[in-house]
Amino acid sequence: NQMLAWQRTAFHFQPRKNWMNGNKFSPLLYKGWYHLFYQYNPDGAVWGNIVWGHAVSTDLIHWRHLPIAMVADQWYDQNGVWTGSATILPDGQLVMLYTGSTNATVQVQNLAYPADPSDPLLIEWVKYPGNPVLVPPPGIHFKDFRDPTTAWYTSEGKWRITIGSKVNKTGISLVYDTVDFKSYELLDGVLHGVPGTGMWECVDFYPVSRTDENGLDTSDDGSGVKHVVKASLDDDRNDYYALGTYDGVRGKWIPDDPTLDVGIGLRYDYGNFYASKTFYDQEKRRRVLWGWITETDSEAADIAKGWASLQAIPRTVLYDKKTGTNLLQWPVEEVEKLRLNGKSFDGVEVKPGSVIPLDVGSAAQLDVVAEFEIDKEAKEMVNGTDAEYVCSTSGGAAERGALGPFGLLVLADNDQSEQTPVYFYIAKGTDGNFKTSFCSDLSRSSKATDVRKGVYGSTVPVLEGEKLSMRVLVDHSIVESFGQGGRTCITSRVYPTNSVHENARLFLFNNATDAKVKASIRAWQMNSANIYPSNDSMNKF
Ligand code: FRU
Repeated sequence: NQMLAWQRTAFHFQPRKNWMNGNKFSPLLYKGWYHLFYQYNPDGAVWGNIVWGHAVSTDLIHWRHLPIAMVADQWYDQNGVWTGSATILPDGQLVMLYTGSTNATVQVQNLAYPADPSDPLLIEWVKYPGNPVLVPPPGIHFKDFRDPTTAWYTSEGKWRITIGSKVNKTGISLVYDTVDFKSYELLDGVLHGVPGTGMWECVDFYPVSRTDENGLDTSDDGSGVKHVVKASLDDDRNDYYALGTYDGVRGKWIPDDPTLDVGIGLRYDYGNFYASKTFYDQEKRRRVLWGWITETDSEAADIAKGWASLQAIPRTVLYDKKTGTNLLQWPVEEVEKLRLNGKSFDGVEVKPGSVIPLDVGSAAQLDVVAEFEIDKEAKEMVNGTDAEYVCSTSGGAAERGALGPFGLLVLADNDQSEQTPVYFYIAKGTDGNFKTSFCSDLSRSSKATDVRKGVYGSTVPVLEGEKLSMRVLVDHSIVESFGQGGRTCITSRVYPTNSVHENARLFLFNNATDAKVKASIRAWQMNSANIYPSNDSMNKF
C-alpha cells in the first residue's frame, strides 16, 4: 500500500512486514553483536502465531535481519514462543529462559541455548529436552505465569530469577533460585507486589549506581546501589518503574517511596511504550532499555499497511543523582552518528502567542535539542492557583496559561494544520512553588480520524538554577521526547497526512499569555539507518 508507505520510519527498527511485539526474549551483546529477539507473527499484521524474530547489529542503529530464531514446534510452546530473557554466565555461556504457551495454553518456562556457542550470530537454538523447567505453582492461575527475567547471582552462590504474575488484583513477582537453570526452588513470599495493579508482564529487575556514571551488571549489589523494579501492566498497557532497596537474603525489594510504588508511580514513558526490557552492555558498561511502540491507529489500518509496531530507539538508563527520585533515560550515543546538517538558533525571543519557523529543511527525520529560559518577572508576577495542571486532561498546546505552554511543533506542515507540539507548562501553586509539566499534544497530529489523539505527559523535576531542556527525535511517525535530560519521557506515535517528507517543518511556539521565552536550539536532520534483509550477504556493515 503505497499511500501508507511513508508511515514507515527511517531509523527505527521494524520488520519488513507483519506484527511485532515487545523486544522480548531479551536483547543482549554476544561476541561483539547486539542481538534483538522480538515477538513476531510471521503470518500477519495482528498478534498471533508468536515466534522469535531475530536481528543483529554492531551499533544498535544499523541492523541485519536474521532467520526466525525459534518456532512453536513443541507441546510446551505450541501456542507461542513468548517472552524470555538471556543470562550470560561468568564463563561466557549463554542461557535463555522463555515462556511457552503449551498445547493447553498453560504458561510454562522453558530453557534454550545456542546450538553453536562459537557462532556470534546465534542463528541456531536448541530447546532443552527436559522442558518445561517451571510450571505455575499452587495458587497461580495457569495463564498468569510469564516472562522470566535475566538471572542474577545471590550471596549463596545461586542464580535467581523473578517472574510476573498476579493473585486476584494484586500484581506480584515470584522469585526462584537455581544452580543449573534446570531445577528451581520457589522462595517464600514474593519479590514485591502491589494491590490493584493486575497482571505484571515483562518484569525487569536491575541495579543502578548511586555514585558512578556507568550502568551495572544485573548481579552487582552493595551499598552504592539502588534497585529498580519495572512491570508492564497488562490492564493499563504502560511500563511502570520504582526505585528501592533489595534485600538479597530474603529475596525482597522495598520501594523508597510507597506512594511511588510499581504501577502507581512513575512510568518510563508517558506516551506509547510497553513491554520494555533492559540489558547490560558489558563492553560499553551501560544499561540499555528497549521499548516497544505500538500502533495507535485501527487494526484495519495495520492490516492494510501490512505491518504493525516498532522498537523505540534504545536508551541508556542511569539513576538521577541530582533528584534521587527518578531514572534518567537518554537515546544511546550511537544515534548521534546519524546527525547531518547541524543548525543552531541561539537566544531566539519567543513572545507570548507566537510561532517561529526554524529553517532546518525537511523535518521528517530530526534530532533536536532545545533549551528555554522563561522571563523571571512574569514568574514573580503571576498569581498562584490551586488548580493542578495535568497533561492528559488539559486542553493541550491550545490551552493558555500565564507561564505556558511553550516548546516545539514537530511534524507540522507550513500552515500548522497538522502539528505535534512538545511543550513545557509551568504552573504556580498558592504556596508560591512552581510545578513544570512536560507534554506532547496529539490532538492535531493527523487529519486521519481513526487514530488516537490524546495529550500525553507528566510533571518533570526542575531543580534550582536549571534551564528547561528537551530533546526530541522525529522519525516520520514517531516522536520521542526527553524532558530535563530524560527525567520524563514521552513517545508519540503519530500519523500525519500532510506534514510528511519535504512538507514536514519545525517551529518554536509560545502560547503563554504572560511569559516571554528565550530559546536556544540545535537541530540536525537524521540520516536513515541501514536495515539489511537476512538473505543479503553482500552488505556487511
Ligand atoms: C507482553 C506479552 C508478554 C508475553 C508476550 C506474548 O505484551 O503479553 O506477557 O510473553 O507478550 O506475545
